[in-house]
Amino acid sequence: MQQRISPAASVTGAITLPGDKSISHRYAMISSIAEGDSRILNYSTGADCHSTLACMRALGVEITGEGTEFLVRGKGLDGLRAPSSDLDAGNSGSTIRMLSGILAAQPFVSRIFGDESLSKRPMQRIMKPLAQMGAGIRAHEDKFPPLEIHGAKLRPIDYTLPVPSAQVKTCVLFAGLFAEGETTVIEPVRSRDHSEIALREFGADLTANRGKITLVGRPQLTGRDLIVPSDISSAAFFIVAALLVPGSSLVIRGVGLNPSRSALLDLLIGMGAKIRVPQLESQNGELIGEIQIDHSTLQGGIIDGALTAQVIDEIPVLAVLGAATEEGLTIKDAGELRVKETDRITTVVDNLRRLGVAAEELPDGLIIPGRQKFRAAEFDSFGDHRIAMAFAVAALRADGESVIHNADAASVSFPEFWNTLARVTE
Ligand code: S3P
Repeated sequence: MQQRISPAASVTGAITLPGDKSISHRYAMISSIAEGDSRILNYSTGADCHSTLACMRALGVEITGEGTEFLVRGKGLDGLRAPSSDLDAGNSGSTIRMLSGILAAQPFVSRIFGDESLSKRPMQRIMKPLAQMGAGIRAHEDKFPPLEIHGAKLRPIDYTLPVPSAQVKTCVLFAGLFAEGETTVIEPVRSRDHSEIALREFGADLTANRGKITLVGRPQLTGRDLIVPSDISSAAFFIVAALLVPGSSLVIRGVGLNPSRSALLDLLIGMGAKIRVPQLESQNGELIGEIQIDHSTLQGGIIDGALTAQVIDEIPVLAVLGAATEEGLTIKDAGELRVKETDRITTVVDNLRRLGVAAEELPDGLIIPGRQKFRAAEFDSFGDHRIAMAFAVAALRADGESVIHNADAASVSFPEFWNTLARVTE
């Protein structure tokens, strides 16, 4: 599928976006191994989170509902059954990495695979700690999906994350749920803490202090009612669109504003963005609020170190914004971008050049000079949802109609993206 995008006169209105992808995965997995029923509202509509639901169903969990509302009949820690066929994680790194932590503790062997993109993503980062805990895992070329996981009685470990990754942290914590004793994860660089919040919400005994997370194994997890906040990483495309297009004024409601995800807003405000958050509330331990954005001229700057890890999913659209800032944007310490759904350093630079924007590719980042004009172009998502949406946003400020090829990739996290974009730009 291809999408044609015309330059926008403004980005205006009030919108509500689908549920957070990261939180949806976690709620689906934890509720499946809790005792009793959980009702999940505003569940992500993205294909990735539906891959997780399909895997949990294949493991014997009864999940009913449709759209954004699901009822999960939890099986308890020891209630999953061997799947009758291989588990399909689709395009979803979160599904394969986080679910592996649960599969590693089962009294059966499971195989989990993914699409072409997922089949090239590194899995050693989860294989190593799970092997230390006692599981047997085989992988294609010892590092890629499909994974064959021989579950075992796991032992707790103390594990320091070698890469900043909430998926790896979650995998180890999920495995630690099944091990007798205390499992500790140390993260030298802070990553999103939705698992810690959700596990506590379900009743786990978990403490987190200065990057050291300790979980007591074999907890009593109890099903509950949950509402997923809207996804700040999806909101990022609309935030940048409103900042970029003169005359814009946009309100986004009910957005998840967990501090481990909202560094994006602080970064933009620090560069001069007119962004306000007039109200904040807490829901299931997560912060949510409304964001108001007005078109702004931004200074630009540097994203590096711990900040890079906190805005890693937003870097494609921030790179687009960077070219329109006064001083440009430099992104460093972002080697992880090369192992996302695509090599996002290469796919961003490729599309920036189509846009007529100069950009220098670094081994672990990019340098984008500021004050650049955007030329209408034919972009390619390369099958990556965030690349499709980032360059749709760029097209709003181009000098004519642009085309996004392979635009259906957006549905991995945000199937409603194209309709929502049309609504705020008409
Ligand atoms: C995620 C963690 C990040 C992020 C991904 C979702 C999560 O990946 O890029 O989109 O939900 O935990 P890494 O764990 O690979 O950094």
